[in-house]
Amino acid sequence: MRVVQEATWSAARWALGAGGPVDQYLASRKRVILSALRGHILEIGPGEGASLRHLPPGVRWTGVEPDPVSRASALREARRVGIEAMVLDGRAEALPVGDRSVDAVVSTLVLCSVDDLGEALREVRRVLRPGGRFVFIEHVGAPHGTRLRGFQERLAPWWLGVTGECRMARDTEAAIREAGFGQVEVERFSMGPGVIPVSPGICGVAMA
Ligand SMILES: C[S@@+](CC[C@H](N)C(=O)[O-])C[C@H]1O[C@@H](n2cnc3c(N)ncnc32)[C@H](O)[C@@H]1O
Repeated sequence: MRVVQEATWSAARWALGAGGPVDQYLASRKRVILSALRGHILEIGPGEGASLRHLPPGVRWTGVEPDPVSRASALREARRVGIEAMVLDGRAEALPVGDRSVDAVVSTLVLCSVDDLGEALREVRRVLRPGGRFVFIEHVGAPHGTRLRGFQERLAPWWLGVTGECRMARDTEAAIREAGFGQVEVERFSMGPGVIPVSPGICGVAMA
């Protein structure tokens, strides 16, 4: 299974990287949620750093990423786009930064991967300054009772095995709404006619 996971991640690195097909598909939504951010931005699971090119100039960016190959790629991408950056080894469930220390937290296609979603969202709230914002683009489980949801629930254990971390039937929007943020705004959209049914997507902002 490890060989399958490594092959999947090689393909994913290409697809998710800056300018890759997934980044291009999400680019207009990334611009909407990322271009308004200011100050110190913390991104959980930045992967190849595909969000960096959508950030406005003048921000300071810290990535928290458990994968060493992705950490190096994200740092290269930050240098390429000219953003002051630091990438830390860590996980969303135990962010290696202080309480109320950042102006925004970014998550794109990461909350399906964290082991403990509730703990990750508690950490996001802990590190945000009052008035700070959590911006996210995620794929989530289809509505309960739909055929797509049934299909996702049957496929989910296999997909988790293939990817090593992605839960395709996670109720991420409900978890964000119940995590204790202030105002939460969410747009639902189709993640496209993928072969793997990781759809719908959510794009939104939750205020600290
Ligand atoms: C599907 S990739 C998305 C990468 C990037 N955010 C993007 O949109 O292209 C998921 C990323 O989350 C990272 N990841 C997995 N578990 C994590 C965790 N518990 N905390 C933070 N990042 C995690 C993975 O290493 C990977 O880089």
